[in-house]
Amino acid sequence: MASTSPAAAAACYTPPWADMSMIGVAGSSGSGKTSLAVEIVKALDLPWVIILSIDSFYKSLNEEQNRLAHLNEYDLDSPASIDFDLLVECLSQLKQGKRVNIPVYSFPLHQRLEETVSVYSPHVVILEGNLALVDPRVLKMLDMKIFVEADLDLCLSRRLVRDVRERGRDIEGIIKQWFDWVKPVYLKWVEPQKEGADIIVPRGMQNKMAIAMIVNQVRRMLKDKSIRHNAELEKLGQDVEDS
Ligand code: C5P
Repeated sequence: MASTSPAAAAACYTPPWADMSMIGVAGSSGSGKTSLAVEIVKALDLPWVIILSIDSFYKSLNEEQNRLAHLNEYDLDSPASIDFDLLVECLSQLKQGKRVNIPVYSFPLHQRLEETVSVYSPHVVILEGNLALVDPRVLKMLDMKIFVEADLDLCLSRRLVRDVRERGRDIEGIIKQWFDWVKPVYLKWVEPQKEGADIIVPRGMQNKMAIAMIVNQVRRMLKDKSIRHNAELEKLGQDVEDS
């Protein structure tokens, strides 16, 4: 029997998680991206599905930037505020079946913390963030692109409640930040992402029909990948037997 070629051997040992699927969920702050992602995970009801928030990849601020951020005079919404290089690196490593350390970000401190969260071999990653559909390197890796649409008044009200309760902010500051930065950047960077989206979801997690369609599509995608993977393994087995 001839020995297996290096390519065949590599293919033989390619685990299914090397074919990780990735769904991007973009939309305004307060539009309900996280809630929609949670509903998708619940409805999928599969192991190895994770939600990765782009918020984890906010850049740490230096002293001066931090001072301005505490005065709500710093842009924390444009793409430059996110460490897309690190995000792309982490996603590429995950796609190769490698373990990655995801940063932990503190909103009250505007800083990345020392600790990280270790993630290993998910089969499906739901990548959610205001700017999930902006970076061309990320777009290339996505199997499905979703934009969550919501009325901006509703987004602001949700943000007010959340930022006071969970992010250590005061009402005046939240309103100032919204009108000076969040809303203008929404119009410049967030809303245009709709153009490249596969699915636009109005009403977020309340839109049961959209969730059912998304889940069916993801299931179909996973089934196709699994059929392809098994066919490749079978063909390799056949080739080895024939040689
Ligand atoms: O969870 P959500 O999508 O709302 O998080 C993104 C928002 O967090 C951005 O609109 C940005 O203005 C805000 N942000 C903040 N302080 C930080 C980092 C981001 O208020 N230190």
